[in-house]
Amino acid sequence: MNIREITGVYFSPTENTKAVIQWIMGQLPIRQEMLDLTDPGQRPDYYFLENEAVTVGVPVYGGRVPATAAERLKKLHGRQTAAVLVVTYGNRAYEDALLELKLIMERQGFRPIAAAAIPAQHNIVPGIGKGRPDKGDRRKIRQFIRRVGTRFWEMTSNYRIGKLKVPGHRPLKKYHVLPLKIKVSSSCNGCKECIRKCPVQAISRTDPKVTDTKRCIVCMRCVKACPKNARKIPVMAMLMVKHKLKKVCAERKEPEFFIL
Ligand SMILES: Cc1cc2nc3c(=O)[nH]c(=O)nc-3n(C[C@H](O)[C@H](O)[C@H](O)COP(=O)(O)O)c2cc1C
Repeated sequence: MNIREITGVYFSPTENTKAVIQWIMGQLPIRQEMLDLTDPGQRPDYYFLENEAVTVGVPVYGGRVPATAAERLKKLHGRQTAAVLVVTYGNRAYEDALLELKLIMERQGFRPIAAAAIPAQHNIVPGIGKGRPDKGDRRKIRQFIRRVGTRFWEMTSNYRIGKLKVPGHRPLKKYHVLPLKIKVSSSCNGCKECIRKCPVQAISRTDPKVTDTKRCIVCMRCVKACPKNARKIPVMAMLMVKHKLKKVCAERKEPEFFIL
């Protein structure tokens, strides 16, 4: 049994993960579909068969899978469907995120066969990880994809493979939303692009200057989407984040790959 079709699935507020998933998918010579879990709104459940595969990507938030992504991944249902797992992170650390993604996908009926943790630009402090994944990263990712491709072709319905091992700790580290508030300046012209783009509908439908901080996941999508650059993390808070990240992100992190 060969893999008939592969679906690229991603939750990607500022599109680093989307770009990585699209790039990976572009290297796989298999019929394919894309499924974006970022936008808000109702979704059906998606069912995948044994002779299909998914490549699923999420960003790392505080060393975990963003809670919104974890929730939306519950819409996917596999039948021992092969899964390639990808996390992108801002050159700090991915901690328990890859393990969490693996546990989620296994619970949803998938069979993780490979995983990758890819450094990308930090979407809160864009000076960190700028230009990643770069040429060197891409070369390594290409090698990984080649190995994954071989795995796909080798897979048969009675092909017995063990369990994929990825780094991470159990219990998973505690999940917390960053205590940051997005500030809206007077440059806001009310175009409502942020409202349309917010993955969790945290911005008031009538007044884009009002954000429900209990809903907001500080994913930076509205900041990136604003054509007037009116949405920002306040200067003092930003200085503190930069200071905190400076040391832990100073050293270049390399992509890591895990394959059965
Ligand atoms: C709320 C939040 C928490 C983050 N936590 C981490 C982290 O723990 N480690 C890290 O290296 N990067 C962290 N980042 C950076 C993102 O993981 C990174 O920029 C990612 O590529 C963004 O993906 P996206 O563009 O698909 O949204 C965090 C970003 C946000 C918005």
